[in-house]
Order: sequence, then structure tokens, then C-alpha cells
Amino acid sequence: MDKSASPITSDDIRSLVRPDHVHRRAYADAAVFQLEQERIFSRLWIYVAHESQLRKPGDFVRTRLAAYEILVTRHTDGNIYVLQNRCPHRGARICMVDHGNAKVFSCPYHAWSFRPDGSLDSVPHRKSYPEAFSLDDPQNHMQRVGRVAVYRGFVFATLNENPAPLVLHLGPMVKVIDNLVDRAPDGEIEIADSSFTLEYQGNWKLHLENAADIFHPSFVHNSSVAPARRAPANASLLDQDQTREMLLANGFGTAEWEGIQLNGFSGGHAYMNNIYSKGVLASQDADPVVARYRAALTARLGPERTAQVLAMNRFNNIIYPNLVLNAQYQQMRVTVPLSVDRTLVHIHCFRLKGAPDEMFHRAVRFLSTLGSPMSMIFSDDVEMLERCQQGLTRDVGPWIDFSRGIGTDRRSQDGSISGAASEMPMRIQFEAWVSYLTAEAV
Ligand code: FES
Ligand SMILES: [Fe+2]
Repeated sequence: MDKSASPITSDDIRSLVRPDHVHRRAYADAAVFQLEQERIFSRLWIYVAHESQLRKPGDFVRTRLAAYEILVTRHTDGNIYVLQNRCPHRGARICMVDHGNAKVFSCPYHAWSFRPDGSLDSVPHRKSYPEAFSLDDPQNHMQRVGRVAVYRGFVFATLNENPAPLVLHLGPMVKVIDNLVDRAPDGEIEIADSSFTLEYQGNWKLHLENAADIFHPSFVHNSSVAPARRAPANASLLDQDQTREMLLANGFGTAEWEGIQLNGFSGGHAYMNNIYSKGVLASQDADPVVARYRAALTARLGPERTAQVLAMNRFNNIIYPNLVLNAQYQQMRVTVPLSVDRTLVHIHCFRLKGAPDEMFHRAVRFLSTLGSPMSMIFSDDVEMLERCQQGLTRDVGPWIDFSRGIGTDRRSQDGSISGAASEMPMRIQFEAWVSYLTAEAV
């Protein structure tokens, strides 16, 4: 592994990406990772939490923002704060759980206690500190890092002191956030407690590429397609055949293949058309749960708007650089880079407030089938991501190929459109990657 972090220039970065090939250093060089942390994960808006996790004062989420481990908190003043998870006394990490509620964060080492806005609440044995020591001195507080912006409940943060407005960064992807929220009959969504986190031994970009890669499922997921084909229809009353339909969808036939369109946008965002087109996954009116759900949504939105909302049919909406949303299945994956060859993925599902409980049960099953550590889908993908990383650590034949479909891509108003067989979304991601990494000043 090439982990020496020697300085890297904008010319070096440009030299790593050709129109149809990428150099392995983009995935395996610690200096490149360092620059990504500075120019992508520090400067762009990074998804860090959902407001439904931060309803009450003291609610918090632990995650990362570039090189910082952070706590995203809700304080008694109603505001959201992003704090470095480090004690100003002697530097200990304070909080070791991923979410929860705390009136104060108490450091385990010498018990300095901090309010959710980072201010220092108390220190034991106050009188042993010098007279000049003050609880109000910001130096003695958990440090606030970055800025926060919220779009319809999705909380983003950035270390950029002069960031573009969040909606500008989200661009055409605001529609998928709108669509997810609009699907809730009560107009509100919440992250379910059921969620998974997994770590893979590979670069963070491999996950985003996989989420935009519709060419691989027939090969990578074949081991679960074959048993699903052998299983009788409606074999499971428990899940109304949802699992079987999901697994079958990965064994594309030509008709499904040709019906899929990929959309990529400048900035690195992308999505594909729905790949689940059958049975309980396709929101058919004939399904009694969908009928009840549609009635509840219609009561709020009216029939025309309801039809529009339910018609949006996009899969794996990638909001560059760290979020993948699937609105109609109430799913979300969050990519958290740890090092050049280690990445965390948080996988959550949402409850649509006002929808029948069965909708939520389906979302949880979707999560389990697709994304859990014991899943029959994402665990296959993770194996591929790790194998790619293993191959990319070697220096012989350093260029990898992204040429598939390059002659057939069409430019759209703000990006590119292609058929399913194209690697256009990865080319779009690398175009954005070069432009972010070579922007020397913000
Ligand atoms: S390191 Fe936190 S109180 Fe001492
Ligand atoms: Fe996959």
C-alpha cells in the first residue's frame, strides 16, 4: 500500500484522469486521500444527520466531517451545533456512541462536562484551577467546527467558510429529497432505529461507483438470483414475496436492460431509473397496503399531486460525495471515508409518518435484504469493492478502464444521459473529482 503522503499538485491530479481511464493512485495514494479530505470533504456540503435524530435538546449524532470526528447536537436554544468530539482539557475523545440524548457530555477522563452547544458546564474540584481559569472561556469549550444548513430535514455541514448555498450544491438532486418527504402522508419522515453500519477495506469512491453501476448485478448478485428463480411465487406470506422480487430484479433481461436510463450531473451527482418494476415493489394499486397508503396521501395532496409524487421512479440517487437515497423504498446510505483504504457505510431506512405500518415493515425488509451485514446483495458488492482495492494496491499496469459506453453518452442541459451499459456516471464523478481537487482556493 502506497501510504506515504508526499505533496501532490493540481497537475498531478489532472494527470490521474483521462477521458476513459483512471490511474490507480486515485484510490491507493494517501496524499490523494489527504487532498480529498481538504478539497472535497472540507469544502463541499456533507450530509451529517437527519433532523428526526435531533428533535429534542440533547439529541446527538456522532459522525465525521473531513478529518474531524464530530457530534451533531440539538441545544436548548433550538439550534443545531457541530462540535469536535474532543475534550479541550487533555484531548480525550468524549462520546463513544453513534447517537443518543445527553443533557451534558461528560469527559470520561477528568469529568469536565459540556452542554450540547459545546460550552463548559462544570469541572470537578473547581478551586484547584487557577483564578484566571473560566468556564466561559471558549478555549475550554468543545470546539465548534464548520457551518450547518438544513434542507427539508437533511442536515449538511461544511468546513468551508464561504460555501455555495446548499440548494445550489444539491442542484437537481433536491427533487429526490423533496420526493422522499412528499411521500409521507403527514408530510414528515423519520430515520428508523433499525440501521446498519459496515466497514469495508477499500476507498470511498468505490462505493459511489458501485451505486451507479447497473452493469454488475447480473454477474455479482447471480448467486441469489438463481435460487430466487427456483422459489415458487408467493412462497412467503410473511414478506408478500418482497425478498424474492428484489433478488430476481438483479437478473436483468434485455427488456429491463434497455428500459434503464442513467443520468449524471456536473458536480458528481447521478441516478438511474427504477430497477424494481414488479409486484409489491412497484407500488401497484392492486396491493391493499399501497391502496391504503395512496388514500392517506391523496387526503393530503389530492389525486393529481399524489400521482406525480408516486410516479418518480429513480434508483440510487447519488448526492456527491457521500449520500445515496432511494426515495420510493425509504432507504439511505451514507459514505464516511476513514482512510485511503477504509470506508464506513451507514445504511438507514425511513418511516413515512401517516403511512400504514406495513410500509415501514417493507422498508425494514428492504434494508435487511439489500444492506445488512447478512444481506444477499450488498455483501456481494462489498466483496467486489475490497477485491478492487486489493488489485489497485499493485503498481503494474496502473490504469483502470472506464470507457464502456463512451461513444453513446448524450449531453443534457446540466450533465449527461446514457443507457444502462455505460460507465458515464463514473466518468461524471471523476470529472467532478478533478474539478474539486484542482480548485486551489475557494
Ligand atoms: S481529558 Fe477530558 S476532562 Fe481531562
Ligand atoms: Fe450490487
